[in-house]
Amino acid sequence: MKSLTNKNIILAVSGSIAAYKSPDIVRRLQDLGAEVRVILTDGGAKFITELSLQAISKNKVHSNLWDNEAELSMGHIELAKWADAILIAPASANIISNLSSGKACDLVTSVVLASDCPILVAPSMNQQMYASKALNENLSLLEKRGYVIIKPDYGEQACGDIGLGRLVEATKIAQTVAELYTITKLTGKKVLITLGATIEPIDPVRFLSNYSSGKMGMALVNNCIDAGAIVTVVYGTISTQLNEKCINIKAETTAQMHQSVMENIKEQDIFIACAAVCDYRVKEVSNEKIKRNNSNIKIELIPNNDILADVCKINNRPITIGFAAETERLIINAKNKLKSKGCDAIILNDVSKDDSGFQSDENEVVIISDKLEINVAKNSKQKIARKIVEIICENFF
Ligand SMILES: Cc1cc2nc3c(=O)[nH]c(=O)nc-3n(C[C@H](O)[C@H](O)[C@H](O)COP(=O)(O)O)c2cc1C
Repeated sequence: MKSLTNKNIILAVSGSIAAYKSPDIVRRLQDLGAEVRVILTDGGAKFITELSLQAISKNKVHSNLWDNEAELSMGHIELAKWADAILIAPASANIISNLSSGKACDLVTSVVLASDCPILVAPSMNQQMYASKALNENLSLLEKRGYVIIKPDYGEQACGDIGLGRLVEATKIAQTVAELYTITKLTGKKVLITLGATIEPIDPVRFLSNYSSGKMGMALVNNCIDAGAIVTVVYGTISTQLNEKCINIKAETTAQMHQSVMENIKEQDIFIACAAVCDYRVKEVSNEKIKRNNSNIKIELIPNNDILADVCKINNRPITIGFAAETERLIINAKNKLKSKGCDAIILNDVSKDDSGFQSDENEVVIISDKLEINVAKNSKQKIARKIVEIICENFF
């Protein structure tokens, strides 16, 4: 099972003879599902080329803190924010010393200081260097600061010595990074989520829609990604930020959302219909802007295809969960929706309140299935989403 799915890992390669093993470390991290970017120190570049690491990582290799182009957008801060973990492997005695004294003298040390993610250090050097008091004091200091030290192996060294100092095998290094992250029942599972509001045009400048912001759906997306799921999002109109760690597909109308969902539903393990779709569309959309003429006008509406119900009809369909935005007879209406659509669960939202539901940053929901009726008390949409993901993991696998 992939356990670095959705994780962005910076591999910093420093000036140890074992730097020639770094492409293998990139590969093993990728095997576990990670996206890898490499920072190569000046010392590291004496032992392995940028080109090899670029070819293997499939990303530009970063090496220079004084890169005018990258620093136009504060490249070292961007890299620090991008990373979910920073792995320094092999870590030379020199870089360990710089890290322990809190220096920001090159790209690696600057990125480490600018980041709040976990840092892992895999020392590799001659056994006598590794046994030195200075190095050991430096490593103890890093350990006290919470760095994970991947202690070297015992064995024959490039210089001919035998002792402690050999870089740990690449597979074990990658596994140690993966151990930072909990494997959940969603790890490696494919999840399709719709979110936001669809719109239905009336004429070239007007449309029907609703107040959905997409915030609840996006909170679910973020939590599914954190739980290791491979997420596809079909989104309508939203007033929240997309997550770049998933496939994002834009849909304007309900018909477009229906089509995108149907094109992507195969091979999904879970489908969560969180979008507030327009159930009806305008029968005849005017090609010209409708002019005021002071008399009543009538707009005829016709029903759209029902995305949730249509997914439920698919053979071998994914676990399918719908949202119900209700304003009255909440539980009864939600239970009716569960039955009529034939889905596995309905997440009930009371959208009649001002302080939760649509547009708000908070929500309270009830998760209803044949066997469950779980109230999730009012909280931030992020926390509500985390609870929903936990309940899905506990009850639907
Ligand atoms: C041939 C050779 C091999 C080296 N091997 C190592 C090594 O395995 N580990 C280490 O800590 N330093 C080693 N060094 C010393 C480092 O390369 C040197 O301290 C360098 O400044 C480290 O660069 P960095 O700041 O990029 O880590 C070696 C130097 C040479 C010339």
